[in-house]
Amino acid sequence: MKYNFESNLNDNNKAIVIGVKEDFENDSNFEELDALFNGNFKSYIDAGVIQSKFKKIESSSAVLQTNVRKVYTVGLGKSEDLTQLKLQEAFGTVLQALKKDKVTDAYLYVDSFSSDDDFLYDVGLMGEISVYEPFNYKKDFKPYELTLSFNKEVNEDKLKEGQQAGEAMNFSRNLSEMPPNVLYPESLVELIEKEFSGKDNVTISVKDDKTLKEEGYGLLHSVGDGSERKPRLVTIEYKNSDKAPIALVGKGITYDSGGYSLKPRTGMVSMKYDMSGAANVLGMMKTLVDQKREVNVVAVLALAENMVKGNANRPDDVVIAKNGLSVEITNTDAEGRLVLGDAVTEAITHKPVVIMDFATLTGAVIGALGESRTGLFTNQSRDYLTDVLKSSEKVGEKLWHLPMDESDEAAVKDTQVADILNSNLRPYGGASFAAAFINQFTEDYPWLHFDIAGTSQFAKQNAYGPKAASGVMIRTVVDYILDGSMYD
Ligand code: BES
Ligand code: MN
Ligand code: ZN
Repeated sequence: MKYNFESNLNDNNKAIVIGVKEDFENDSNFEELDALFNGNFKSYIDAGVIQSKFKKIESSSAVLQTNVRKVYTVGLGKSEDLTQLKLQEAFGTVLQALKKDKVTDAYLYVDSFSSDDDFLYDVGLMGEISVYEPFNYKKDFKPYELTLSFNKEVNEDKLKEGQQAGEAMNFSRNLSEMPPNVLYPESLVELIEKEFSGKDNVTISVKDDKTLKEEGYGLLHSVGDGSERKPRLVTIEYKNSDKAPIALVGKGITYDSGGYSLKPRTGMVSMKYDMSGAANVLGMMKTLVDQKREVNVVAVLALAENMVKGNANRPDDVVIAKNGLSVEITNTDAEGRLVLGDAVTEAITHKPVVIMDFATLTGAVIGALGESRTGLFTNQSRDYLTDVLKSSEKVGEKLWHLPMDESDEAAVKDTQVADILNSNLRPYGGASFAAAFINQFTEDYPWLHFDIAGTSQFAKQNAYGPKAASGVMIRTVVDYILDGSMYD
């Protein structure tokens, strides 16, 4: 999205964008708006050409002062019911209507939505994410570009902040969308270095497959060894505070064929998204780094491709984790928990105040929660979750606490040849089992596990973006980190 800060209606502005409240007449800016319509605003409402029902979009032509222009209105409902989320939704929806009509220059009547500076953050954010165009290789693809002007001077800092958050989300989304023959551990490392190296307070370190083997990261190494594209363990530190770090761990399986426990042909499609946990951690980092936030965060990304090859894992193998636990592999398709085990062990070396991991981990969580709620597991009490749940509610990303207890731990230890096994033979409660597996590596550090298998992509277009990678949990976790309650 581009912005033009010369705040007046000009000839380029072929369209004007207005939010319409049910009680629009009470708005202190109504007279100004009505003057723009030559005093006819209410007639448009009465004729039903403009409607105030929440999210209802209308587009029509109107005589505005001197010129005829296209008017896009979006209903906002009653102003007393209007929340930040509803403003975001309404604004994102009207932007999608502009995109559909290929409008390239629009004039935003800011005050019709909100006179609060915070709305500019929403404009910046939604300007990036609602009209996001998935990364693609289409021969005649032309990116959509809209230039927005405003009816008044706007708070450019707020706008920029929202825009940076949106750009970081689209960065993650693009990584998730990239095909697996282009995006694999080594090439993802290059993209990470391109994005983050040289930025203030950022250091990046990468372990290649040889180092992983030598240093005993047996879980990550064994998963990645079944591919021509070798695994990597990436650590990005952003130290802009003296507090203990917050650790963000990401599952980065750049393709999940299932390995020898091969996925059926329909189940394999879309497994390029199996690195979305890592991608979204990168989006969180990018937001914090670009906004120069005063936080101490360390990201650990376990990158591997789960394939079939002579030295790939096979069911019955026993491998030794970095923390010394022996693991019986009963299912090579339960690879995410394996790579996360070693990544959590790595995160612990930084003595974090909390570890959060993000992973497209189980089909079971989709069965339990569907495609719009992320599953949340923890080794802490329910009270510990209050603040992260508050952040998720605030930004409108649904999160649901799921159980994990001694019975799951017992199932994880139910093996005769090793300390733990990676997959239960009984096909029930699979998301809790997977969580209990990862918990074998947390050493009682406070830990939150986000199973984003169902939410890493939007099942259908909504105000926050098209049917494509979602960047889920970036906004929730950035809000939670900035809130800082994990230090209390
Ligand atoms: N990446 C998958 C989980 C997944 C499934 C994500 C569907 C998105 C959509 C994961 O590695 C996996 O294969 N999990 C198995 C575990 C099972 C073998 C214990 C699953 O959930 O079927
Ligand atoms: Mn798998
Ligand atoms: Zn997987």
